[in-house]
Amino acid sequence: MSRLLVNGGNELNGELRISGAKNAVLPILAATLMNAGENILFDCPRLSDVDAMIEILRAIGCKVEFNNSMMRVDSSVLSSHEIPEDLVREMRSSIFLMGPMLARCGKIKISYPGGCEIGPRPIDLHLKALRQLGVEIKEAHGFLECEVIDLKGTEINLDYPSVGATENAMLIAVMAKGTTRIRNSAKEPEIVDLQNYLNKMGAKIKGAGTSQIIIEGVQKLSGVEHRVMPDRIVAGTMLVAGAIAGGEIILKNVMVEHIKPVISKIREAGCMLIEEGNSLKLKSTRKFNAIEVTKTLPYPGFPTDMQAQFMSLMTIAQGTSIITETVFENRYKHVDELIRMGAKIKVDGRVAVVQGVKRLTGANVTAKDLRGGAALVLAGLTAEGVTIVNNLKHIDRGYDMIDKMLRKLGAEVYRMN
Ligand code: EPZ
Repeated sequence: MSRLLVNGGNELNGELRISGAKNAVLPILAATLMNAGENILFDCPRLSDVDAMIEILRAIGCKVEFNNSMMRVDSSVLSSHEIPEDLVREMRSSIFLMGPMLARCGKIKISYPGGCEIGPRPIDLHLKALRQLGVEIKEAHGFLECEVIDLKGTEINLDYPSVGATENAMLIAVMAKGTTRIRNSAKEPEIVDLQNYLNKMGAKIKGAGTSQIIIEGVQKLSGVEHRVMPDRIVAGTMLVAGAIAGGEIILKNVMVEHIKPVISKIREAGCMLIEEGNSLKLKSTRKFNAIEVTKTLPYPGFPTDMQAQFMSLMTIAQGTSIITETVFENRYKHVDELIRMGAKIKVDGRVAVVQGVKRLTGANVTAKDLRGGAALVLAGLTAEGVTIVNNLKHIDRGYDMIDKMLRKLGAEVYRMN
């Protein structure tokens, strides 16, 4: 089980280019199934979740090459509509394959994606939308056997602005007969990137990024080239790294608009942040004010994927901060580990009360999920002494060599197997 050794105390200085977004490239990779052609994707991050998706695409017949950050996916010939169970279990995002596979082949057999570290992660909204679009779904023995009866555009009202359900409905509606209107759709920027990619293929979609998306069904799609949007959560995580460690860093290839809620919180905490086009400059003196209230919300609210990292910053702020996680049921597994490092945090249901302390101390801690693991690394940057972060596999799902990124900025972070 690989782990990270973090020797705390160094300031961070220097420049870092942010890679393509995990949560944009995963649904786009699923969408490559739809055009039965060759797709070239630029700025793809090297992540274990991306590797898992590539394995699935190859298992159903796609040809995939991945060199540096350029990926070539040829979906001309598909050999199966059954998604390998072990790969689905490994990565919940394989659920994005339902829409494209049903649009392309008219059927799919896929095992129920397990819950994961941050909650049960139901897919009821996905299934309800697919059924409304004319898909018959049999749920038995832990599998979903789906078949298109008559793929017709319709009106879909999502009970909750689910990112995945919005994307799955969008994907299958691209090739439905007639027009589909998705109301209360999620507004995340990754959905806009997916719309841009699909429209390049010949789809007719508008409204992504708003709470209403309209898709006009088409018959034919073609292979395309696309540059994946920058990862706003990696950018936010690196901003917190610069803030918590102190120093001056510059992040390149950032869509500043995508992380406004994170920027305003870090400014409120006391750091200087200068926006220069697609770059962000952060200066930190390691003195932070507590932020009284932070609530995670669907985009454009404060992102749930930044909650854990922001909590690490608040553990050494002056005063008490209250964080409320409204999106996932169980996204505080990093709290016990931060307490082992000397943090003072009390959790009651979805509310965490963080009382700032002078300094954290290095400890042997364990990553329980992707963003909670990143939060422990950030805490290690400022803690006195050495922190060992175990279960690195969680972090590698969403960060392309987090140790290399931080070392480039002057941190003492080393990977140990
Ligand atoms: C996407 O997950 C992201 N993953 C998550 O990022 C992100 O945290 C989440 O959106 C919210 O922004 C990818 O894009 C690959 P949801 P998704 O459907 O689509 C409930 C990370 O760290 N729900 O918006 O699974 C669900 O249980 C990951 O990069 C239902 O009840 O999120 C949750 O409480 C973590 N029924 C809430 O909605 C459904 O059918 C939000 O889930 C679907 C979701």
